[in-house]
Amino acid sequence: MTPFSDLSIHTERLSLRPLVEADANDLFAIFGDPRVMRYWSTPVWADREQALRLVAGDREALARREDLRLGLVRRDLGRVVGTVSLFRIDAGNRRAEIGYALGAEHQGAGLMSEALVALVDLAFDHQPGAPFDDLRLHRLEADIDPRNTASAASLTRLGFQLEGTLRERWQVGGEISDSGLYGLLRPDWLARRSGRPTLR
Ligand SMILES: CC(C)(COP(=O)(O)OP(=O)(O)OC[C@H]1O[C@@H](n2cnc3c(N)ncnc32)[C@H](O)[C@@H]1OP(=O)(O)O)[C@@H](O)C(=O)NCCC(=O)NCCS
Repeated sequence: MTPFSDLSIHTERLSLRPLVEADANDLFAIFGDPRVMRYWSTPVWADREQALRLVAGDREALARREDLRLGLVRRDLGRVVGTVSLFRIDAGNRRAEIGYALGAEHQGAGLMSEALVALVDLAFDHQPGAPFDDLRLHRLEADIDPRNTASAASLTRLGFQLEGTLRERWQVGGEISDSGLYGLLRPDWLARRSGRPTLR
């Protein structure tokens, strides 16, 4: 059982690691950009202080093993270009929700797919000593604005299925929007990763 604060994952082009104060400018560049926040569940950031508050909040959540957010560091640039998170971790029901955002200029290159494969592998790894071994997660969920076609494509690429739509569930910046609820089950993920056909 690894403390979330010690987590660090490397993919082909990215390093995934907890956020630190020195990432504040990079984070503000992402979450202060209306293009990135168009379908996000909170308004566009107005100042850099929000980045520092996020990092401070994350530090506590990571230490308590509550929520996990990791910054995506593009190794060729040496800076944070996005984030992925695992939150609403429900140990009793062995499920959690995922969230993700990528800076606008880094989209369309498969970077988020690369990061999410690593995150899902981590979440569903039940081997003794794996960071989430005690949670034995069985199901991951995502809640997206159905108009967010790039996000829907990212989820579908991973094997998430659209399981339902909740009407007019979010009020963000005076705008009302629906929720598209997606789910991914561990047996389906393992079958997909091993190239076996899915049974359901
Ligand atoms: C959702 C979001 C992360 C998707 O970003 P993305 O760059 O499209 O996602 P991926 O990294 O999976 O890249 C896939 C795209 O890269 C292309 N691509 C290029 N090289 C690739 C590679 N090696 N592997 C996979 N895809 C590749 C794919 O063809 C695809 O483009 P397409 O959709 O035009 O076909 C991004 O739109 C975003 O951050 N949006 C704002 C925040 C947000 O809405 N988050 C979700 C809230 S629920």
